[in-house]
Amino acid sequence: MGDRRYRAEIAAYRLAHALGLDNVPRAVPRSFDVTTLRRLLPDFDKDALPDTDGRIRGALMPWIDAYRVLPLEEASWRARWEPWLTDPSSTIPEDQRPLAAAISTLIAFDYITANWDRWSGANIAEDGATHAVLYVDNDGAFYDNPPPHALTRQLALLRRVVRFSSSFVEALRALDGAKLRDTFGEETPGQPLLLDRAVKDADARRRTVLDAIDSRVKDAGATAVLAFP
Ligand SMILES: Nc1ncnc2c1ncn2[C@@H]1O[C@H](COP(=O)(O)OP(=O)(O)O)[C@@H](O)[C@H]1O
Ligand SMILES: [Mg+2]
Repeated sequence: MGDRRYRAEIAAYRLAHALGLDNVPRAVPRSFDVTTLRRLLPDFDKDALPDTDGRIRGALMPWIDAYRVLPLEEASWRARWEPWLTDPSSTIPEDQRPLAAAISTLIAFDYITANWDRWSGANIAEDGATHAVLYVDNDGAFYDNPPPHALTRQLALLRRVVRFSSSFVEALRALDGAKLRDTFGEETPGQPLLLDRAVKDADARRRTVLDAIDSRVKDAGATAVLAFP
């Protein structure tokens, strides 16, 4: 998917962190000299392209020992969680509320990041040690020109969601304009992680999410809509 897509992993981590979410594994920029890297890791992907300075740039992420794929896109899972989030009359079992909240926030997060790849399989996981839902594989996010069909699909899903996390909504409201730009920050000193245009588009999508939630609150009331902590 291109040798610059690692930036989306870093941008997604920085955004999640700024929103107070611990669902996206940490991703930090790193570069390695290609000769050294191939000597140390002979099986390293031969297709990885070094830059003209002989360095390979990427994102470094922690290995999660208790990583378990959570196949929420499968029909049996969907049949469980979709009513929790899209049917206001549904009852969420008490012990499933954290999962429901994590999926609700995931849907909003993915529209803001314009991630087209979430539901294609094996891109949602669980940390068996903490039981946190992990929003993994974010390299389909933050394209300079996101594929339009992806945005349409993510927005359609978001518009069906009737329950959100109040702390997430509050954090999203606070992260406007300049704060969002600072959140994405730089890859190396003087080198912004994302194009200006990508930051502006993400901010516009952030506002679209808030508008959708605000209009739900207007119709159904804050208690019903801001149903999760
Ligand atoms: N942080 C991690 N710790 C442990 N295993 C991981 C981690 N991230 C990904 N994996 C494993 O690698 C697979 C592919 O990762 P993913 O980020 O989805 O990349 P791809 O772009 O190849 O789909 C996952 O399904 C999982 O099995
Ligand atoms: Mg994947």
